[in-house]
Amino acid sequence: MDKKKVMLSGIQPSGDLHLGNYLGPLRHWPEMIEEFDCYFFMADLHTITVRQDPAQLRKRTLTQIAQYIACGLDPEKCVLFVQSHVPAHAQLSWVLNCYTMFGELSRMTQFKDKSAKHAENANAGLFTYPVLMAADILIYQPDFVPVGEDQKQHVEICRDIAERFNGVYGEVFRVPEPYIAKVGARIMSLNAPEAKMSKSLPEGCVFLMEKPEDILRKFKRAVTDSDTERCVRYAPAEKPGVSNLIQIYAAATGKSYEAIEAEFEGQGYGKLKPAVGEAVVEALRPIREETERLLQDKAYLESVYRAGAEKASYVAEKTLRKVYKKVGFLAR
Ligand code: TRP
Repeated sequence: MDKKKVMLSGIQPSGDLHLGNYLGPLRHWPEMIEEFDCYFFMADLHTITVRQDPAQLRKRTLTQIAQYIACGLDPEKCVLFVQSHVPAHAQLSWVLNCYTMFGELSRMTQFKDKSAKHAENANAGLFTYPVLMAADILIYQPDFVPVGEDQKQHVEICRDIAERFNGVYGEVFRVPEPYIAKVGARIMSLNAPEAKMSKSLPEGCVFLMEKPEDILRKFKRAVTDSDTERCVRYAPAEKPGVSNLIQIYAAATGKSYEAIEAEFEGQGYGKLKPAVGEAVVEALRPIREETERLLQDKAYLESVYRAGAEKASYVAEKTLRKVYKKVGFLAR
């Protein structure tokens, strides 16, 4: 039998997961673990490049693990772990720092944005963030890294670093391909449908753990469009608000756009909003309930991330040993 291709993704536990995350990439991950050997980790080392509340960070990391399992990432079928539990990431990151140029890091758009946004804390970690990410990736020798638009430049620099290192020492790292994953729906903010749904616009954002009554309230207040037609029709350019609601309704129920337009024929936007709210509540209910159940079972979650760290470390340390040997460190 062919060996499965390897795929890896890190997610920062810097905020609570929301409907945009879920209906976007997250929903496709359970299919991916059938096709690839997958590593998923909580990128807590990356998260502290911006100040975090320690208790919140701990809680979010654990909640996110529970949510991934609740969303269908069976920990028996993929490697689920916490980045800081596998010290080899930070160790490889140091080595790669010495093969990454000051100039190329200075040109990264995310560094420029974030150091401007957090001018009072433009720390060195923010600057070398892409090197740590390159280490995260290269240490597992993956074939693919699924990326959204915002992370593409980071995968590019990872490839550059790998090629530079391989150029000096031979084929140490597999140079991964960016993988344009099925991104699923691109969900927009409920109260500002020109912007992507995001935790920084909390009133237009539905969180996975939110109470049903709060979800329903947010949908009732969703912005619709001020066109005169007032009919429920999918037309993102003319009717961004209504089209976003139709898209969410379709994703939550599996109904087609045509079926939804027919369902609301002759009715205004007023009927659509609560219907979408209820469909979302029902779609999220099993995930929220399963997450809550898992969070009651700390011993189980602990066993998951411990086993994950063990499996990940085995692979990561193998790569690290090879790198240490290549650069000339004396073996212990
Ligand atoms: N930088 C990524 C983000 O903010 C998270 C991340 C860290 C990551 N290490 C990674 C993603 C390695 C893919 C591979 O979304």
